[in-house]
Formats: sequence, C-alpha cells, structure tokens
Amino acid sequence: MSQPVLPFVNHLPVRVEFGEGAALRLPALLEDLGVDRIALLIDEGLEQFNPAAAAVVRALDGLQVSRIEKPAGEPTITMVDDVAAQIRESGCGAIVALGGGSVIDTAKAARLCVQVKCTLSEFLRSARTYPAPDVPLVAVPTSAGTGSEVSGGAVVTDTENDRKSGIAHPHLRAQHAVVDPELTWSMPPTMTANVGIDALAQGIAAVVAKVRTPIGDAIALESVRLMGRSLLAAYRDGQDHTARSEMSCGSMMAGLAMNISDCTAEHSLGQAIGGVTGAPHGLTIGLVLAETLERERHHVPDRLERVADAMGVPDDGSRDGSRLVRAVRELLADLEFPVLRDLGVTESDLDSLSDAALDDYFLTMSPHPWSRDEVHGAFRAALDLESRDTTLVVS
Ligand SMILES: NC(=O)c1ccc[n+]([C@@H]2O[C@H](COP(=O)([O-])OP(=O)(O)OC[C@H]3O[C@@H](n4cnc5c(N)ncnc54)[C@H](O)[C@@H]3O)[C@@H](O)[C@H]2O)c1
Repeated sequence: MSQPVLPFVNHLPVRVEFGEGAALRLPALLEDLGVDRIALLIDEGLEQFNPAAAAVVRALDGLQVSRIEKPAGEPTITMVDDVAAQIRESGCGAIVALGGGSVIDTAKAARLCVQVKCTLSEFLRSARTYPAPDVPLVAVPTSAGTGSEVSGGAVVTDTENDRKSGIAHPHLRAQHAVVDPELTWSMPPTMTANVGIDALAQGIAAVVAKVRTPIGDAIALESVRLMGRSLLAAYRDGQDHTARSEMSCGSMMAGLAMNISDCTAEHSLGQAIGGVTGAPHGLTIGLVLAETLERERHHVPDRLERVADAMGVPDDGSRDGSRLVRAVRELLADLEFPVLRDLGVTESDLDSLSDAALDDYFLTMSPHPWSRDEVHGAFRAALDLESRDTTLVVS
C-alpha cells in the first residue's frame, strides 16, 4: 500500500567540484575566495606515495602555505589539539585538507576548536554549540572513501577510553569539496577494498535508516549503482580510470546520502571493533556489514530489495532482501576481505563489544530497535566465520 511522502528537511550547502585534474585548479578556487594564505593539512609523507597529490602541492606554490602534517593513524583528541594550535598560529584565510577521511575529519574538528577557543576535550564536555565557521574549509579527498568531504561529521578516537566518538553538525561541513579521482589511484588494493566497503555501506545505510528521505534515497541508490559495479574493478586494477572515477563519485554521493539520512547498525558495531582493535575504519565496517543487513532484512525487506536492484543483483523472486545479503557476502569474498577472528577478536570480547555498540548513536537510526541479544548475535555470527568462502555460508 503506497503512502504519502512524509515531511522532511534536508540541508546540504557544500559546493562540489568533481573530475580528473579538479584539484589542480585549487589556486583559482582560493583566488575566488580572496585567500592568499592557507593552512594545508596533509597526510605525513603523502607526496612520496601519491604523485597526483604531489602535483597538487606544487600547484599551491604561489600561495603562502603553512604546511601541517597529520601523523599516521586515525584522528585522536591530542592530534586535533595539535593541529588546532598550528592552524591558530598560521593566521590563514582558508584551510585546505588534502588526504583521507582522517585528515578531513581532523581539519573539521580543529577548525571548530580554533573558533570556539578550547581544546577538543573541553568542547566535548561543554554544551557543544557549533558556530557558523569563520574560515572556509576546502576538503580534497585522496581516498574513496568516507564521504567526509561533504559530510558534517568528524570521527575522533578517545584513546583514554578506547572509544571512537563522533561530532556532527551542519556547521562542521567543508564549504568546498574538490573531488579528483586521480588522487585515489595510488591507493593499494587492500585500502581500496576497505574504504570502498565503508562507502558502499553508507549508501546502503542511507536507504535503510529510519530517517531516510526521498532525496537521500535517490542519491544513495545512484551511489550504490556506481560503487556496486566498480568497487571490485578498482580493487583489481587501481589504474582503471572508469572504476576509480565511479568510486570517487559514488563515495562522495554516499557521503551526501548519509548526511541526508544516516548510518545504521553496521557503523555502531564496526566502530566498537575499531575502538578495541584500532583496525582501519572501513575494515571494521566490512566485518559486520552482511551480519547487520541479515538482521535488518527481516524488518525492512522492501528497502533491501531496492538496494539489490540498484546494485544490479538479479531478482530471485524472494522479495525478502536475502539476495542483497548474499551479494554483499560475495563481494566481500571477491575482495578477499578478512573475517573478525583475523583481528584477534575472541569470544571473551563479545560482551564489551556489544556494550560499546549499544552505546553508539548510529544503532538508534536503525529502522527497528536492536536488542542486546541481537547485537551480541550479529557479533557472534561475524566471529563464527572462518573464512569468506561463500560456499560455507548458510543464510
Ligand atoms: N566524517 C565522516 O563523515 C566519516 C565517514 C566515515 C569515516 N570517517 C573516518 O575517516 C577515517 C578513515 O578515513 P580513510 O578511510 O579515508 O583513511 P585515512 O584517512 O585514515 O588514511 C589511511 C591511510 O591511507 C593513506 N592514504 C590516504 N590516501 C591515500 C592514497 N591515495 N594512496 C595511498 N595511501 C593513501 C593515509 O596516508 C593513511 O596512512 C576514520 O577515522 C573514519 O572514522 C569519517
């Protein structure tokens, strides 16, 4: 039975420039902004393994650049505070974040701390007001990816409590996203698989989440169509221009869709694994993606069917969403994805992992509340997998 479209509000004020070579035009963009002094936040040593990024840095030669190197690893509270201090000192008119999701998230959180004049820990303990930013942020992703270039979120690890926590607000968002697929060509296959699965999961979650809207569905389903057919190709051949461009576009769109809608259980369970093991974000999401979808399909089979159609999975007549779960399992197997036990997680970790996941915001975005037993059960199902051999999986 069809229903009227429910009321919704969506607000996405970010200018997106997409295309091969787009990042080389950064000087023109900065000139348009009237800025000649920038803080450039960049992954430590990025140019050594990413020639396209090296060309972008060279293109910025004519500007006054305060280079700030983000050390390896996902953002921590200390890292954000260090970067904030350097941005403050630079007196810049704009911040350019050139790197993966970690660099972009660090830039968002650090810009906020500079503006509200406190450390990130102080901000997290405060009433958390997010002023409209006074310095523009230009996000230039080198992974495809997190969608952080268009999202209003930043994920920061609290190393004292082994927890990843997020801050999110429209005012955290970058004002400009310059998405240049060439910057992603240097990603090795494992990273391509990890970040690509994260992006695909975001596109799927945007359709599943209880706050989904028709605009979010439209963007998410197209993102799933692009990534569903290109992730494996990009994994197998990093120089495949078409696959790389579809992954960059698809992951950016999944970021938009995630912001219109939200992530769901896969992110709560994945982030719990990340907090305990320190494993890369995308890897942790892939470890539980099929297991969380297996549970969601019983509540919103119609939505999973739409995603399966977008991914080009042949209709099997079941109408119960199982073909999407199967397709995700097959994709993970083709990507030679690890299983949870490969990270050293054991039976004794399941209680604390379940507690952390139940404490996480994204789980509340699921279309139907999760019980503790269900969360525990999804972790157990992931832990029971000995390999990604789909012939051994009974769904
Ligand atoms: N804000 C959001 O909306 C959002 C969404 C999802 C994830 N995240 C966060 O983003 C972070 C993960 O970001 P990520 O997956 O992009 O990786 P990353 O930024 O953590 O980078 C991982 C490693 O890959 C390297 N790298 C980056 N680009 C490369 C390239 N083109 N070639 C070779 N190596 C490259 C980096 O130098 C780094 O060593 C996590 O902290 C996660 O929590 C944020």
